[in-house]
Amino acid sequence: MSVEGRTVLIAGATSASGRAVARALLDAGARVIAVGSDQGRIDALEAELPGVVGERADLTDGDDVLELAMRVHARVGDVDGVAHLVGGWRGGGGIAGQTEEDYRVLERSFTALRYVSRAFWDDLVASPAGRIAIVSSTTVTAPTAGSANYTAVKAASESWMRSLAHGFAAARRSEGSGGAAAAVTFRVSALSGLEDRLATSVVDLWEADASTLNGSVRELAAG
Ligand SMILES: NC(=O)c1ccc[n+]([C@@H]2O[C@H](COP(=O)([O-])OP(=O)(O)OC[C@H]3O[C@@H](n4cnc5c(N)ncnc54)[C@H](OP(=O)(O)O)[C@@H]3O)[C@@H](O)[C@H]2O)c1
Repeated sequence: MSVEGRTVLIAGATSASGRAVARALLDAGARVIAVGSDQGRIDALEAELPGVVGERADLTDGDDVLELAMRVHARVGDVDGVAHLVGGWRGGGGIAGQTEEDYRVLERSFTALRYVSRAFWDDLVASPAGRIAIVSSTTVTAPTAGSANYTAVKAASESWMRSLAHGFAAARRSEGSGGAAAAVTFRVSALSGLEDRLATSVVDLWEADASTLNGSVRELAAG
């Protein structure tokens, strides 16, 4: 088992972590679709990593995501994997400082995850090795007052991933299901310096059995 020859979509691909994941997937022989909301940053990524297929979409817009899925299917066919990296950080100020404005910004990453995972659900279920991963935060196990909005959104995203895992398991049991898919949550305290660790961990999702991976939470740490 390996990611070689698989098609993987990176949702939110233009950050340092997205670029590291794209590079590692390309090096491992995968076809990579890199999605971001800014055409200039997508163009720069395509120039930096020849072979990457860039796509611009606002992943918090349901119609944009459906149109993206149609373009991806037309350009490269079904996908085998989704690395969902749309994030963002707002925090501080204790509970009184957990503003609606900050929450609305943070909640966009969860909205994007819901749209993207539903748009590519059938692909992942039908793939012989479907994989979807997010990067959550270690604050989910120890929420602080200053990170309440952020941590609540990450906890919701983790819950969504467990629902995807349940859906994959049910699809596997049902007659006619294509293959073995898995939903995996990575947790990290801070990503800076761990981008290559994340990239390797995403590539390794295709080295392990889906039944072992599905629904798991894996902490990314240095060393
Ligand atoms: N950084 C950390 O220390 C840390 C810690 C714990 C967890 N995490 C999580 O790890 C993941 C990756 O982190 P990161 O710092 O690399 O993420 P990030 O800075 O939030 O960037 C992720 C990507 O999302 C894209 N994006 C944002 N809004 C979008 C939209 N509406 N439609 C399409 N693309 C959109 C951004 O590109 P454009 O702006 O060009 O669209 C960017 O490429 C996130 O889920 C984050 O919450 C990070």
